[in-house]
Amino acid sequence: MFRSRTSALAPALALALAALSVQGQDTKKEIEKYQKMIADSSPVELYELQGEALWKKKQGPKGASLEACDLGRGPGVVKGAYARLPRYFPDTDRVMDLEARLLHCMTSLQGRTREEATKRVFGDDDNPSEMEYLSAYVAGESRGVAVSPGTRHPKEKASYELGRTLFFYRAGAWDFSCASCHGEEGKRIRMQELPVLSTPAGARAVVATWPAYRVSNSQFKTMQWRINDCYRQMRMPEPNFVSDATIAVNMFLVATGKGEPYRGPGTKR
Ligand code: HEC
Repeated sequence: MFRSRTSALAPALALALAALSVQGQDTKKEIEKYQKMIADSSPVELYELQGEALWKKKQGPKGASLEACDLGRGPGVVKGAYARLPRYFPDTDRVMDLEARLLHCMTSLQGRTREEATKRVFGDDDNPSEMEYLSAYVAGESRGVAVSPGTRHPKEKASYELGRTLFFYRAGAWDFSCASCHGEEGKRIRMQELPVLSTPAGARAVVATWPAYRVSNSQFKTMQWRINDCYRQMRMPEPNFVSDATIAVNMFLVATGKGEPYRGPGTKR
């Protein structure tokens, strides 16, 4: 499931980690002020509108739009679908998150190849992939709906268990797990509070606001990107897009934060 990638960012990260510390209330207030400021000028709606246009655009060898895509509530139903993901889909016999399902619809309905449909999913800030726009649109259609991923099917349970194991699994050059950075109150890196993602209190606000517009990249980012980028920060091999492992990590986060009304797409540092 992993493809390796080397990086020259280690010294920068070491510095950032050195800054990991509990700071005072003042910093926290400043961060909150800053977060409000960036949210007020966020272009999230533009991504949602472009995503809706893409959803309806006929393309691929089959010349089809995604309007017949079944996101779990029946073909074509977008309202409230995102808040119920990840979940088990009988037609693929797999637990899928939003990006996995979108990719499935692009290949099955539009006849596109995985390679073509996933070009640039992790990278190019100047030229984002369709996943960003589409996830903005679909997620926006769940605003106000309580986050409730699938929890009953045996494969949903297995995905949650795998995700929990991976969250606490230490590996890589630095022997980090997700919990190394997201397992303790009061940790911060670069003006960003690091939420404790393994508790409902920490996970709720996070799963209610991803996918999100990221001011530091001036780009909209998906949850798959978020998880991938944290694996990169951990010096781990880069996981494959929508692998069962990354979906499981997502499942663990979403199930931990379940019950929270979705209020994204959010705006982040
Ligand atoms: C080396 C420290 C580090 C590790 C280890 C790490 N992360 Fe992160 N994570 C960060 C930082 C830093 C941010 C904030 C990123 C930013 O905006 O600059 C972040 C942000 C996030 C967010 C978004 C939080 C929010 O407030 O919206 C999620 C979700 C997340 N990480 C998941 C994970 C998962 C899952 C793992 C394990 C696979 C992981 N992280 C491992 C450093 C880490």
